[in-house]
Amino acid sequence: MAAPVTTCPPAEPTRVAVLGYGSIGTVVCERLAAHAIPGARLVAIVNRSRVGDAPAPLVTLDAALTMCDVVVECAGQDAVRADAVRILEAGRDLVVSSVGALCDDEFALRVRDAGPGRLVCTNGAVGGLDLLAAAHDAAPFDEVLVRSTKLPKALVQPWMDAGQAARVRETQEPLLVFRGAPSEAARLFPKSLNVAAAVDFAVGRAGAVSVELYADPAAELTRHEVEASGPVGHYAIRIENLPSDANPRTSAVVPFSILRTLAGLTRQPNLIA
Ligand SMILES: NC(=O)c1ccc[n+]([C@@H]2O[C@H](COP(=O)([O-])OP(=O)(O)OC[C@H]3O[C@@H](n4cnc5c(N)ncnc54)[C@H](O)[C@@H]3O)[C@@H](O)[C@H]2O)c1
Repeated sequence: MAAPVTTCPPAEPTRVAVLGYGSIGTVVCERLAAHAIPGARLVAIVNRSRVGDAPAPLVTLDAALTMCDVVVECAGQDAVRADAVRILEAGRDLVVSSVGALCDDEFALRVRDAGPGRLVCTNGAVGGLDLLAAAHDAAPFDEVLVRSTKLPKALVQPWMDAGQAARVRETQEPLLVFRGAPSEAARLFPKSLNVAAAVDFAVGRAGAVSVELYADPAAELTRHEVEASGPVGHYAIRIENLPSDANPRTSAVVPFSILRTLAGLTRQPNLIA
């Protein structure tokens, strides 16, 4: 006699709340609402300011945590610092786009110890991190350089005095705006140097990474060059991203990178439309 055939009920989609409905969050929400990830469903949006015409209910974070399985952060480093532990302790997974927030060691430890939710950082505007991480696992890198070049207006910061801001804004040629460690870069340029933080995490935060940031009026594309050298190989990764129309500090590819990361947390990780 043939064995009875059993069928599994269709998997419920992963319920997603998006924290931050700005230039990145808007695209993430639109794509989710258009069923770009078959295994995920947008159920809530959390935003500091009011928004009109959103594709899901605008709710508080507390309400969102009762509705979702995963929170996707597209709000900024302050939001990660304020809300990450609460989200993880509520048992919700968290996709972080503002990865620079985790450069603060004390905060990173608190997040590491929080749960049962899982925290996943998106690769965001950079790629090749899997290979860099694998090479680091084989043998730590001697040195890694992240050189980012952006339009000057994307690099003017509130802490700059009027002279510094004008020097950056009005430069007619490539200008070195910052050289130093990823944690300092993430602190001084919180919306612009998540890439350096992502590379730093990939290679184990062992102090091998240095960062250079240039303002270049000719940089119509945001450029990230990663040069890594160690016992098992030499790597040069060059990325040129179109800045987002809505926010020149952000690259247009970032929401799509976040969606890829989110898809990996669903029950159909390889499906994305
Ligand atoms: N990983 C990467 O490669 C990468 C690249 C670009 C940007 N980012 C990160 O993404 C963040 C968002 O970028 P964006 O261009 O969409 O910025 P944006 O300023 O256009 O939008 C941010 C939105 O979040 C909302 N917000 C801020 N704090 C909040 C809070 N605590 N609770 C709820 N809502 C809050 C704001 O009201 C705004 O609507 C950046 O700050 C940056 O840290 C990451």
